[in-house]
Amino acid sequence: MNQPRDLPPQPGFGLDYNDENSNTSANPTFESIVEARLSRRSLLRGGVGGAATALLGGFASLGVASCGGGDDDPAPAPAPAAPAETLLGFAAVAKSLEDKMTVPAGYTATVLLAVGDPIAAGVTAYRNDGTDSGFDRRVGDNHDGMEYFGLSAAGAPDANGNDRALLGINNEYINQLFLHANGPTPNPRPAAETDIEVDCHGVTIVEIAKTAGRFAVVQNSPFNRRVTAATPIEISGPLRGHPLLVTKFSPDATRTRGTNNNCGTGKTPWGTLLTGEENWVGYFFRAAGDQALRTAKENTALARYGRNVTATAAAASRYGWETSGADDKYARWNTSVTGATAADDYRHEINGQGYMTEIDPYSATSVVKKRTALGRFAHENAAFGKPVAGKPLAVYLGDDARNEYIYKFVSTQNWVASDATAPDRVATGDKYLDSGKLYVAKFNADGTGQWIELSLANPTVAGYATYAFADDGDVLMHARLAGDAVGATKMDRPEWCAVPGSGEVYFTLTNNSNRRLGAVTGSQLNPDAANPRVYTDIRGAATVQSGNPNGHIVRMKEDGGEPGATAFTWDIYLFGAEAGAPGNVINLSGLTADNDLSSPDGLVYTPGTGLLWVQTDDGAYTDVTNCMLLAAVPGTVGDGGPLTIDYGGGNTVATRVGKKQTATTLKRFAVGPVDQEITGLCETPDGKVMFFNVQHPGEETSFANIGEPTKFTSHFPGNAGYGAGGANARPRACTVMVTKNDGGRVGT
Ligand code: FEO
Ligand code: CA
Ligand code: CA
Ligand code: CA
Repeated sequence: MNQPRDLPPQPGFGLDYNDENSNTSANPTFESIVEARLSRRSLLRGGVGGAATALLGGFASLGVASCGGGDDDPAPAPAPAAPAETLLGFAAVAKSLEDKMTVPAGYTATVLLAVGDPIAAGVTAYRNDGTDSGFDRRVGDNHDGMEYFGLSAAGAPDANGNDRALLGINNEYINQLFLHANGPTPNPRPAAETDIEVDCHGVTIVEIAKTAGRFAVVQNSPFNRRVTAATPIEISGPLRGHPLLVTKFSPDATRTRGTNNNCGTGKTPWGTLLTGEENWVGYFFRAAGDQALRTAKENTALARYGRNVTATAAAASRYGWETSGADDKYARWNTSVTGATAADDYRHEINGQGYMTEIDPYSATSVVKKRTALGRFAHENAAFGKPVAGKPLAVYLGDDARNEYIYKFVSTQNWVASDATAPDRVATGDKYLDSGKLYVAKFNADGTGQWIELSLANPTVAGYATYAFADDGDVLMHARLAGDAVGATKMDRPEWCAVPGSGEVYFTLTNNSNRRLGAVTGSQLNPDAANPRVYTDIRGAATVQSGNPNGHIVRMKEDGGEPGATAFTWDIYLFGAEAGAPGNVINLSGLTADNDLSSPDGLVYTPGTGLLWVQTDDGAYTDVTNCMLLAAVPGTVGDGGPLTIDYGGGNTVATRVGKKQTATTLKRFAVGPVDQEITGLCETPDGKVMFFNVQHPGEETSFANIGEPTKFTSHFPGNAGYGAGGANARPRACTVMVTKNDGGRVGT
């Protein structure tokens, strides 16, 4: 979700429980490092990046195929034969403020499923009037990350299945206003409302199958499953049995309940879903004065994750679920000291969220596990490096909060190719994800960087004065503090990461509204009066700075292409900007009306076409356009070269390293309805059917207008003919399916 938005206050509810800004370390910011980076020709080995007509499929790489790489480039994989299609051959979709989904001419977008749709036998159709219940057997709300798991015609796991599949869909949070007939009741929350809201969170596993050539939901499929914010989940990896996870529910610290605020996803090489727990901290109430009942160390840890309190001010919870009664299922959301010991209360309940959680989608009764070796923070997605037999697996991870870090997990076990189809997928997850090393990224101004190990084996972590880590479990649980200790680079909200066929790693840095260092001056750098913002982000160090409103995409190249490398090089793949912004200081990537964007968030590589898909979750350009989806051709680090910034008028000339985009490397593919973000994306293996999600349409509808449908800011997808309600429907988060009318691959 995009935050902060200026949402109107609703009775009894707080405003902003996302993207807390709790990093008070003195670590350098990425901005200061980009600022310092000057042209270093030795690092600029590439030529012109990306070829629009490259022929590729599978893991063949556009970047490697078309760019001169350095000596340490991995050998390019042989490109399998693929049809001679032109990537980005479609006509760009124009920016739009209309309440509809727009895709290029020659493509068709249809709604596949939406929040509330029944996914079990006997469940009634969704009325969409706030009177529905039983969401543990319906599609959850506010779809985010999504992965495709193929099935054979007979219903067996089949990575190449194009006609029958399971979708694993994150349900990040709720469009709370529309779930209840008259909107949500203020605290104390009625239990019936809380039950609905808890069940709307988590993950939806749903079977889809082609009927007459088009996918539709299989309502009665035995694969269908909801994992919600209440589902019992096993603690797995180094934190299993850890004292900091002892609760009344699990005195032996082996279990917890629920996966919450599920944002980005990952698909493991063995065919399971990883779901990232992002802005979970706001779900927990912490009482005023609780700090006096805690050790100083506990208070440091809670503050670093955004749950600070004082003697008089409590930390309110996002939805007030803890107010719904004495039942344990509500009381658990109060993460304060209330009992004699940790086994008597839920003081540690908050420690059970913030992980990458693994679900085997192919079994509706499989055990769900929190993979604690991947660290605890505000997880966005998980992108695996290219699996290579005999080498460890690398998993790239971002912590999406202001000034938080980028991480990498490297497995202890080397990859065995036959594990891709091993029948016990949960055991395969145990093998690769329960043991390994967690690293944090440190970027240097010379275009290099280091992965720094976060464990007590690192003396800097072991000797950290601010927080004395008890053991390696404590390090993983409080990875942010360990990152503080080792001088990790503060990033501008790392959202999704993706690994194209080149094996390089792309991270969206969506924006940073809080990077505000001084007053705004001048007019040239504030070109859009309707949306006052400044681009001092990219001004020289001598000038004031105020925010990074449009974000950018950084990319990293591992030394030697090795998953376990501890060094990398980096550059900027894309600077977000409005096309009309001055190219000498703001629009450094040369964006045009056909590909300008703000606040990149979702980022997914689709091997079927070799394209990188960029999704926006924006609040800066939304006076001009709704959020969008763009198709990009990845390149390779260094293929852009230095980009000169000239402020004129006596201001300094600076140089950034980044890439210019063109009509053959970046093009807008879709624009969604009002007040939504497009997020999550997956494809059939043949690249011919694409799925993506529309999250929180109409979210800026005023609480006061719940009884006046004509004042809802969006009616999608009801106004597109999907489900109940028609033109005045309550908006619903939904999954959209896109095909090319000529049967070709999506993005060509
Ligand atoms: Fe759930 Fe960082 O977006
Ligand atoms: Ca976002
Ligand atoms: Ca996101
Ligand atoms: Ca604007």
